[in-house]
Amino acid sequence: MLGRGLGAGPTPAGVYGRIEIGLGFGDCRGDVTFDRTMRGKGDTMKRSAILGILFVTLALLGGSTAVLAQDGGFEYIGSKKCKKCHLKLYKSWEATAMASTFEVLKPDVRVEEKTAAGLDPAADYTTDENCISCHVTGYGKPGGFVDIETTPTLVGVGCESCHGPGGTYTQDGYMTRDNKEYVKADLVAVGLVDTVGEEQCIQCHNADSPFVGDDFVFDFEANKSEGIHESHPLKYQH
Ligand code: HEC
Ligand code: HEC
Ligand code: HEC
Ligand code: HEC
Repeated sequence: MLGRGLGAGPTPAGVYGRIEIGLGFGDCRGDVTFDRTMRGKGDTMKRSAILGILFVTLALLGGSTAVLAQDGGFEYIGSKKCKKCHLKLYKSWEATAMASTFEVLKPDVRVEEKTAAGLDPAADYTTDENCISCHVTGYGKPGGFVDIETTPTLVGVGCESCHGPGGTYTQDGYMTRDNKEYVKADLVAVGLVDTVGEEQCIQCHNADSPFVGDDFVFDFEANKSEGIHESHPLKYQH
């Protein structure tokens, strides 16, 4: 069946229940909060050093800009790093099914659904290469998920799965408390996804999922306001 939405799909909402968050712009007043302790001098120096190394690396990679443009080449850092400035969105994201979807790879979770899909419900799929890429953040990419011991903060579909790897756009001069009116294009040039759309979703919402048929087509319109964090209008000009 073409254009089938998840809501209309064969799978029940599952143990986490369906989370429905409208993209309403009600009385929200922006979301950015700042922890005053977060930018010590040492931190700034470390960042400059990292930036320096990055620029050298980028210069060396000069010949392969096509690769950089395609999947960025920028480092994944994990959703916890976004939390200090985006606390409300973080909490809202944390409550979504996608945030905790690493859990469903564990044995004895979603037994009925796995059985119906021809999988072994007693098996541990948390290290299975055929599964984890869509249930974690940045698998196989720089700074991305390796395994649960090495990269525990990259389980689930994190902020960067949709917004792009944050290793560079969260550095000084980009998206920081001193630069709240950053120029968005500067951030997009270093890994921020301009507008999260269908292209981000279909990295995972495609026929490679064992829970959908070969003819599966992701219905972005039907799914874009479901399952994602709530939305708060930005406060500043970009
Ligand atoms: C191409 C990306 C992709 C791969 C590979 C993938 N999944 Fe998923 N998985 C998804 C998506 C997207 C969903 C949610 C909607 C759907 O079923 O397509 C999902 C849903 C699930 C669910 C919840 C099903 C339900 O109805 O509650 C389980 C359990 C799961 N996957 C386990 C696995 C296991 C085990 C593997 C490996 C054998 C795997 N997934 C491989 C993308 C993927
Ligand atoms: C990195 C992989 C990945 C990306 C990117 C991704 N998803 Fe998902 N999505 C999943 C997986 C895995 C699940 C299954 C969650 C579960 O049931 O454990 C899921 C579940 C969902 C659900 C069902 C949530 C629920 O509450 O039952 C919706 C709706 C959804 N995704 C929409 C989207 C949209 C819209 C986008 C793009 C803006 C997107 N997803 C991007 C992997 C992904
Ligand atoms: C499944 C995909 C997905 C994930 C995961 C996700 N977002 Fe979003 N986010 C969106 C979409 C879609 C929009 C609206 C379109 C846009 O602005 O690109 C959005 C918008 C935003 C905005 C703009 C303001 C607003 O509220 O609309 C911010 C800031 C943001 N997200 C931060 C985060 C942070 C921080 C996390 C992790 C805690 C996160 N997002 C996780 C999809 C996602
Ligand atoms: C040091 C603080 C800080 C950190 C850390 C941070 N952000 Fe932001 N972010 C901001 C500020 C400030 C804005 C602009 C807010 C506004 O205009 O209301 C913003 C805006 C955004 C936007 C909207 C982009 C636009 O202009 O359309 C997205 C998406 C976003 N952040 C995602 C993330 C993600 C993902 C992470 C973690 C990888 C992250 N942020 C970490 C401070 C931060």
